[in-house]
Amino acid sequence: MTAEQLVIVANRGPNDFVWQEGRWVTRPAAGGLVSMLEPLARQPDVRWFCCVSEPPDAEQAREGLYTTAADETDPDLHIVPVPLPARVYHAYYGLISNEVLWMLQHHLIGHGGYDGVDERRQRAWQEGYLVANAQLAAAIAAAGLAPRAFLVQDYHLYPLPALLRRHFPRTPVLHFTHIPFPGPPMLKLLPGGWRRTILTGLLGADVVGFQTPSDARAFLWCCEELLGLAVDERRGTVTAPDGRVVRARAFPASTDPRALEATMLTPAVVAARARLALGEAGQTIIRVDRLDPSKNQIAGFRAFARLLELRPELCGRLRFVAFLVPSRTDLGVYRAYRDAVYGVIDEINARFAPACGAPPIVVHYTNDREQALAAMADCDVLLVNSREDGMNLVAKEWAIVSRRPGALVVSETAGVAREVEGAALLVSPLDIEGTARALAQALAMPPAERGLRLARLRDRVRRWTAADWLGAQLDALGVTGRPLGERRDRAPAPPAVAPTGLEADLPRRVAVLPDVV
Ligand code: F6P
Repeated sequence: MTAEQLVIVANRGPNDFVWQEGRWVTRPAAGGLVSMLEPLARQPDVRWFCCVSEPPDAEQAREGLYTTAADETDPDLHIVPVPLPARVYHAYYGLISNEVLWMLQHHLIGHGGYDGVDERRQRAWQEGYLVANAQLAAAIAAAGLAPRAFLVQDYHLYPLPALLRRHFPRTPVLHFTHIPFPGPPMLKLLPGGWRRTILTGLLGADVVGFQTPSDARAFLWCCEELLGLAVDERRGTVTAPDGRVVRARAFPASTDPRALEATMLTPAVVAARARLALGEAGQTIIRVDRLDPSKNQIAGFRAFARLLELRPELCGRLRFVAFLVPSRTDLGVYRAYRDAVYGVIDEINARFAPACGAPPIVVHYTNDREQALAAMADCDVLLVNSREDGMNLVAKEWAIVSRRPGALVVSETAGVAREVEGAALLVSPLDIEGTARALAQALAMPPAERGLRLARLRDRVRRWTAADWLGAQLDALGVTGRPLGERRDRAPAPPAVAPTGLEADLPRRVAVLPDVV
């Protein structure tokens, strides 16, 4: 008899394939989704379906990052790549998922973000986004599996739960959205047919998971207002058009503290700490994020410039070291943002280098996780000023690895904001003046206070790990047995406050309020 499999479905597999100096090179993919799912993927009886682009032609290949079927070969990860023609992949991943949905869901509307649906975009929806989802569903149905449950990931795959339900009517399905979910006023900026497909696609799941209670509430509000469905706010449920009761839940993403602590002892991190030598001369502000408009790097650098204006005595004693991860460079809007960020850095460096004795902003434009962790250990301040963010795991990783101890400045609109209350200094992401002042406050914070704030956050992160994130989802689906996970020393304490009206039927571990010291 065939064993039943737990099936993960995500756009991305655990490896990227990058065209470098005339050849494809594989390397682990960046991002929270991959890091949280990889331990599960290593378990037996798990399959990970992902979309891969068939190799683009040589000219395209030199332009950007692609994932191809060829690299998805690690047998321990149980990857099942579903190849899509490069044209379909680009329309689905680039033109719709990242240039429309990602931008809309991070409130990046207009020039440099989501700026409208023309005929080309309509075609990309029909011939890219919908086709990719349909091909994925068909590939899963044709794989001859006996799925125990489906864990479907993110905004690339909103239509998929409904498509899977047609093939597997009795198999539990959970969809998790890793990025913020918009309310009706935002979703109405998409064509009517698109938003109905998104919502009804998600309603194919039994459980629709989000990063925060407000995202879950926004989804229910959309179902009520845009589809006219009956919503029970208190229970956090919506009755789908086929009569099933679908649950909306918050499962805040987290990190794996033990794995991180082990990584900190590796030669790569030890060498990077020595090389960067951040703690040795003066103070350092760092940031670690993909180069993406949602991460709001420009406002962060402008706040740093304002800080140097306010506190000229810091010149020569303070550096801003930015670890920027190349991302989605095949898309014009990302290349334009990268150029704009570099323009701002050049301007600030040219202005302050004479007084500071050297350019005060240093950039590492690379995906080097060990180097970034090394910097997090020894920085004075980590700045996370995302315009908006589903969660932002960097803040949680920093809480585990900071040694100096450092201080944390976080945007109020990041999903992690509620969890870092009492530990971080919170800023409004477009408030450059306020961010400059928060940076000044963080730099001046006495070590004892930094240590106390850090300890609070570290404790919270240790009590709600990536394994808890996944375990809570499996619990919600009624999938028994914990297939993975670090053993916690203490009982899990959920980090996010459950929303009014959604707490009643939440999984127990998510319903309890956090112990904010
Ligand atoms: O959902 C957000 C996310 O998928 C994260 O896992 C990761 O940070 C990022 O987006 C990666 O994006 P991409 O797969 O497009 O490189």
